[in-house]
Amino acid sequence: MNRVLLCPPDFYGVRYSINPWMDLSQSVDHAQAVRQWEALKALLMDLGCRVEVMRPQPEWPDLVFTANAALIHRRRCVLSRFMHRERQGETRWYRQWLGGEGYEMTTLNGDVCFEGEGDALFCGKRLYCGHGFRTDPGAPAMLGQLLGCDVVGLRLVNPHYYHLDTCFCPLAERLALWYPDAFDAGSQKKLRDAIPQLIEASADEAARFACNAIVLGREVVLPDGCPEVVQTLGGCGYLPHAVPMSEFIRAGGACKCLVLVLEHDRDGGAV
Ligand code: ARG
Repeated sequence: MNRVLLCPPDFYGVRYSINPWMDLSQSVDHAQAVRQWEALKALLMDLGCRVEVMRPQPEWPDLVFTANAALIHRRRCVLSRFMHRERQGETRWYRQWLGGEGYEMTTLNGDVCFEGEGDALFCGKRLYCGHGFRTDPGAPAMLGQLLGCDVVGLRLVNPHYYHLDTCFCPLAERLALWYPDAFDAGSQKKLRDAIPQLIEASADEAARFACNAIVLGREVVLPDGCPEVVQTLGGCGYLPHAVPMSEFIRAGGACKCLVLVLEHDRDGGAV
């Protein structure tokens, strides 16, 4: 059983700009955002997920992006530390919810920033950790120590792809979807060396958040408007489900950012 945490978009909106997608001159269609979020939630339930919902908070419009709350591994919860003041107040609410779940709660030492599952994804037994925009370069090694696992640090260089989950999506131990231009040359090489099969998203589909996908065994939930990735996934035996995410992309997020994985069918990430 996959168990995930979501937060309803009651107070969601673009009220500040902390990434290049957040354009204050454009407005979010709130009713549409609610419909898109409800449809995502219903689909996850249809696909057999147990969906937990936390209470939204009026002062924190980005609280919907629960992927940034923490990284959960087995019974351990590494709470995030946000880079931007605009999101720092969310931590209190994530701590409150996750703290009630009986995890062993930790944070990274010092004042090291780390934005949770948005920047840390397991592919097989190995953890991949993005840094450069939101997460500090020291975080990958600290996570390795704390969780006792192999960690590959990846340097993000394109401000549109400021979180790892916007440009990298593990599908199976030896298979992932990615957008290479988001990484520096050394990190591209690390990924090519570590993962034998990499599906490359085009620039257009990456910009429609193709890599921001939720993987549930063979089912893959991804934003609509990415026909090439859908076709390639189908060819690899996956069952893609394309969902509209336009109103969340205005804040620089899509389906994967709206979900925090609490328990995965198989420990350690994708099937
Ligand atoms: N507006 C949010 C931010 O800039 C979007 C977060 C997207 N989350 C993610 N996991 N990529 O922080």
